[in-house]
Amino acid sequence: MGLPKLLLCSFFFLFSILAAGNAGVHASSPHHDRRHHHHKKQRYGFRPTKLFVFGDSYADTGNIQKSVGSSWKEPYGITFPGKPAGRFSDGRVLTDYVAKFYGMKSPVAYRWIKYAGNRLRYGVNFAYGGTGVFDTLVLEPNMTTQIDFFEKLLKDLVYNKTDLDSSLFLVTVAGNDYGAYNAKGGTAQGLPAFTASLISQLAVNLKRLHGLGARRIAVAALEPLGCLPRSTVLSSFQQCNVTQNTAVNFHNLLLNQAVSKLNNESRDSAYHVLDLYTTFTTLLENKGDVSGTLKFETPLKPWCMGLSTAYSCGSVDDKGRKMYTVCNDAKSAFFWDGVHPTQAGWHAVSMALKPSLQQIC
Ligand SMILES: *[C@@H]1O[C@H](CO)[C@@H](O)[C@H](O)[C@H]1NC(C)=O
Ligand SMILES: *[C@@H]1O[C@H](CO)[C@@H](O)[C@H](O)[C@H]1NC(C)=O
Ligand SMILES: *[C@@H]1O[C@H](CO)[C@@H](O)[C@H](O)[C@H]1NC(C)=O
Ligand SMILES: *[C@@H]1O[C@H](CO)[C@@H](O)[C@H](O)[C@H]1NC(C)=O
Repeated sequence: MGLPKLLLCSFFFLFSILAAGNAGVHASSPHHDRRHHHHKKQRYGFRPTKLFVFGDSYADTGNIQKSVGSSWKEPYGITFPGKPAGRFSDGRVLTDYVAKFYGMKSPVAYRWIKYAGNRLRYGVNFAYGGTGVFDTLVLEPNMTTQIDFFEKLLKDLVYNKTDLDSSLFLVTVAGNDYGAYNAKGGTAQGLPAFTASLISQLAVNLKRLHGLGARRIAVAALEPLGCLPRSTVLSSFQQCNVTQNTAVNFHNLLLNQAVSKLNNESRDSAYHVLDLYTTFTTLLENKGDVSGTLKFETPLKPWCMGLSTAYSCGSVDDKGRKMYTVCNDAKSAFFWDGVHPTQAGWHAVSMALKPSLQQIC
């Protein structure tokens, strides 16, 4: 079963390259040529028509309750859609850019599914900010419960097998599991065992999605937690925490092993890892994207932060005064708050992830 799909994908790629090559030959002006070149970059082995998303705030587009999420407070959403709308950024997040890459609208947040109508044809976003594989510090649906929601839609015949065959499943999860582990007094010694149990449960979840009909599953590796502003604030945003990043590397190692094992067992190579770790670190080290289009001068410094450690981006005191500061230009910052990238940051990340997305077939 895996072999024909592989052949089909290779064939499609070959065809794309030939077609793009021809276009180049016929191009008459450099300007014209550049447009074709741009067009070529948009080609893919597989083009999903739907996106189903699971996980946390890196993917949430409005599921988290207003009473719980800072994403519903000013200045979140200031760039897009222009007011707080549940995204943990000034604007678009990973989900939006992955959808855009495939030429579809961002899938509706599960909380608005009743009003989705035609929008359901782009899939559904089940991701909730603050959540994890296990229960975390927020009382929002964990990944297992998010998959329960998805399963319910299948039972209700909202989507059929054909729909799932042409869908991409995107998963960003685990950062909050580590936050909860630390907050609950987890020790450094206990961390490897915790990581193992986390990956084991994540593999169960991914396999369950596959069993429900998912044929292409892209799971994000964990970003360098030690480079998030909440960690680098201790060095005035100069240095990433190496201890934390070492733990993340171990997590990603086990994740890659688990994904290889799942692919070996399933024989249809449905599982893919999106390497957020290398993507983040490369952008932070380069102070921008490789092409030089997007620049982040002080890459570890967030655009928005609390006036002291007691406050965070979006905090107000009991008199309604803003207890946070913001910088001038959100486009020049990679990080938005202590944990999340800006829209410009996500834009840069998604550009860097394009080759990985193109490999999914
Ligand atoms: C996820 O949440 C459900 C419902 O609260 C709970 O029963 C379940 O144990 C949780 N799963 C994990 C893996 O923590
Ligand atoms: C599956 O659902 C789509 C609409 O989402 C429909 O066009 C298609 O005919 C259905 N296929 C089957 C086999 O029921
Ligand atoms: C790095 O993170 C670890 C674990 O969270 C912490 O114990 C340590 O103090 C941090 N180191 C620095 C230099 O901030
Ligand atoms: C793949 O699975 C087979 C048995 O199904 C096993 O012999 C082999 O070692 C596995 N390979 C990897 C890379 O896990």
